[in-house]
Amino acid sequence: MSKVIENIQLYAGVVKRVGYTLTVGMLSSDFRNELLKLYNSYNIKPGSADTTPVDPFIIPKTDVFELFGNDSAAYEGVYECGFGHTTEFELKVISNLVKKWNPKRIFEIGTFQGRTTLNMALNTAQETEIITLDLPADELESTKMDIEEGEIRYVKKEVSGERFLGHPAAAKIRQVYGDSASFPFDEYGNSVDLAFIDGSHAYEYVLNDSEKIFSVMRKGGLIIWHDYTNWPGVWMALNELFQNDKRFGGIRHIGGTSIAILTVP
Ligand SMILES: C[S@@+](CC[C@H](N)C(=O)[O-])C[C@H]1O[C@@H](n2cnc3c(N)ncnc32)[C@H](O)[C@@H]1O
Repeated sequence: MSKVIENIQLYAGVVKRVGYTLTVGMLSSDFRNELLKLYNSYNIKPGSADTTPVDPFIIPKTDVFELFGNDSAAYEGVYECGFGHTTEFELKVISNLVKKWNPKRIFEIGTFQGRTTLNMALNTAQETEIITLDLPADELESTKMDIEEGEIRYVKKEVSGERFLGHPAAAKIRQVYGDSASFPFDEYGNSVDLAFIDGSHAYEYVLNDSEKIFSVMRKGGLIIWHDYTNWPGVWMALNELFQNDKRFGGIRHIGGTSIAILTVP
């Protein structure tokens, strides 16, 4: 009987959520993204009467166990995830990738609370340097390109990096501030072993950030993107790079996550 009540509650919750998404929610880019995801889950081409199945995630998958075999990384705050965070599993995948790559220098675009930054620090050598770039809230109106409306809340925060501030591992972390479209990446040329791209999810920004990060990577370094399957701007930009730019032809999507990776050729 309780299962029946549970299912009725589930049904009522879904009806309420879908009702909101189709009405007031349309004014918010978050809900529009949700609608697009729903559309894609039915495998229908948006904006067309054509019902040919379409899978927007064209990048070939790699398996997480092919990458590591086992889970030997250290974690903190893995289960405390909410809006704007990587999932528990994604954080474990990133931590394991970092541990495996043993980078001397990491560059992250998009610090937010610093949850991933902290976990990258926990899985690196004492001498590793982690540079993490964040857009200050007071520069929100002056970015070179438009960021998504739905990500403004991640920019508008009192403190950037609160998860690692005061933590012993913070000694490895250097915070830098600015807009990734105008930040002087040149000074990091050929010095980055691992990069995590998780700043703005707008199409133009993902293209910009991918290009800028590529320009500072060492050969054999690893680029990690978050949100490939979550934000249209991310999957459109990564699909385009994968299809049209030979340098990015080796991108792989890690199954069961929204993470895409590239070992720099
Ligand atoms: C989704 S959050 C990052 C989450 C974080 N990497 C994590 O794993 O917990 C996105 C971050 O990117 C920053 N951001 C957005 N647009 C940016 C830009 N143009 N340049 C630099 N940082 C940007 C936001 O301020 C926010 O802190």
